[in-house]
Amino acid sequence: MHIIPVKDFNDLGRKASQFIIQLVREKPDAVLGLATGSTPKSTYKELIQDHRLNGTSYQHVRTVNLDEYVGLAKDNPNSYHYFMRDQFFNHIDIPDRNIYIPNGLASDLDEECRRYDRLITELGGVDLQILGIGRNGHIGFNEPGTSFEVMTHVVDLTLDTRKANARFFNTLEEVPKQAITMGIKNILQSRSILLLASGPSKADAMARLLNESKITNAFPASSLHQHRNVTVIADEDALSMVYLERRA
Ligand code: GLP
Repeated sequence: MHIIPVKDFNDLGRKASQFIIQLVREKPDAVLGLATGSTPKSTYKELIQDHRLNGTSYQHVRTVNLDEYVGLAKDNPNSYHYFMRDQFFNHIDIPDRNIYIPNGLASDLDEECRRYDRLITELGGVDLQILGIGRNGHIGFNEPGTSFEVMTHVVDLTLDTRKANARFFNTLEEVPKQAITMGIKNILQSRSILLLASGPSKADAMARLLNESKITNAFPASSLHQHRNVTVIADEDALSMVYLERRA
């Protein structure tokens, strides 16, 4: 696991965007695995700025998102469909047909999960998967206890995760109780992974991930120790409890 310490949230965006831009320049039809949440926002902002200033094109890029809430329509401002358009897709030149996000309104959710797995295979797999991390170590929406062997599936969200995400909703009750998420197995099949972390609320999770190498279902992000090409970009607050020698 390669660790890149950065100063703050904006620095995180600058550094992470460099990885993505380099990939898209080298492989214009790259498959990007994208994430939502607050953490990747500065990265998307940098990518948009680079697209405007330097013309990096996403005409042939394909994107697959990690997850989506069950029960929210695409035009619901809290859906991940909406988030991605608002934060990224509306501001670059990617064609709609190249954008893939699980459909949380599918009438048969299990079939939607299988469809999503088939789709990723048909695209040739993910070249670079962007990940945030939950306070409890979840990646995508793979909550503690999830088997590392599952592919895309429907999850019951933990109260901790619903509370963490309640800031985007009016009330905790409005936060969906389920989501569709790529499984850890999908994530580990990506050719490379970029895990982003920012802020003091991630310090515990980063300490557990980076100070320990124990792989356990109780801490889903620990599965990343099994992958050969993971880069962690994290800011000072997120790394505040990580041993100094690992930060050098
Ligand atoms: C959400 C998302 C994850 C994200 C995580 C952290 O639950 N499903 O993909 O990585 O929470 O979110 P944030 O970046 O807002 O802290």
